[in-house]
Amino acid sequence: MIRSRVVGVGAYLPARVVDNDELACRLDTSDAWIRERTGITRRHLAAEDELTSDLAVQAARRALERASTSVAAIEAIVVATSTPDHTFPATATAVQQKLGAPIGIALDVQAVCAGFAYALAIADSFLRVGHARTALVIGAETFSRLLDWNDRSTAVLFGDGAGAVVLRAERSRGDLADRGVLATRLAADGRHYRDLYVDGGPSATRTTGHLRMNGREVFRHAVARLAESVEAVLAETGLAVADLDLLVPHQANLRIIEAVGRRLGLPPEKTIVTVDRHANTSAASIPLALDVALEDGRLADGRLLVVNALGGGFAWGAALIRW
Ligand code: UT7
Repeated sequence: MIRSRVVGVGAYLPARVVDNDELACRLDTSDAWIRERTGITRRHLAAEDELTSDLAVQAARRALERASTSVAAIEAIVVATSTPDHTFPATATAVQQKLGAPIGIALDVQAVCAGFAYALAIADSFLRVGHARTALVIGAETFSRLLDWNDRSTAVLFGDGAGAVVLRAERSRGDLADRGVLATRLAADGRHYRDLYVDGGPSATRTTGHLRMNGREVFRHAVARLAESVEAVLAETGLAVADLDLLVPHQANLRIIEAVGRRLGLPPEKTIVTVDRHANTSAASIPLALDVALEDGRLADGRLLVVNALGGGFAWGAALIRW
């Protein structure tokens, strides 16, 4: 059978770093509150002239380099983003053009913070049915552009960045020792549309709008759904939490990440945490965290991991991967 194997990972963070103290100079907040309630100490913010596609291209180039894969081999580009360069066309086509990638599939996936899990599952399907042999899956965001910088309850939480993986279709034995994406699970519950949304958009207001969030409600659902998503994706294969080497969750809040780990009975050292350094980069957080785990040696060949995320919608999802 065909499986999608992750053969390269790349990350890009904008140069400008903003710490909590800098935010406390213009908002009624403090480093202590932000650290205690979220675990965040700093975030990267894109420069005025840096677009989501620019961040995506930087991450993609690094992933291709790590994968020893040329741009000419790319047959599909799936970009997870809620901050596209323009309302249309897809930011994936801007990435295609900037990379000089050949004619192929290019689309954006809009599942907010769950975007990377959705994009990975979609690209995995393309590869398994033979629509493409090599795909770039990118999470890229400039959430700084959507924030209401006068709203302390949201402005302190997010950062900009991009991460990318190269997926390659490979023949496999079809058992759980295979390397690659072993299972994916996606879901959404539109009853929570207004718990985390942007109050603008081309159809509703003809403006871009700002991010609005019912933080407590998102928190409560995030812990429950994220823990369930790990169990659900493992159940597809008959594996158990004890078999996992690593959890690479979406990075929204350290307290959410820790609560999910406790629910699952997963030792803290098996969970990758980057929210302290990156803040919440929405669809970019998982590939950025994969890059960190690869750099520090925790993501070695053969390791079994789950990536999972929940965001606006609510939309959530998980993927089980053997590295
Ligand atoms: O990527 C997926 C989307 N996002 C998430 O997963 C985020 C989920 N939610 C959260 O992470 C948390 O709910 C927050 C970090 C957003 C908020 O933490 P919380 O512990 O739920 O705080 P809260 O909203 O209940 O607010 C507690 C207090 C409030 O003051 P009062 O009403 O108790 O006087 C807020 O006004 O903290 C106040 N507050 C702040 N104080 C200082 C809210 N934001 C700030 C701030 N600095 N930045």
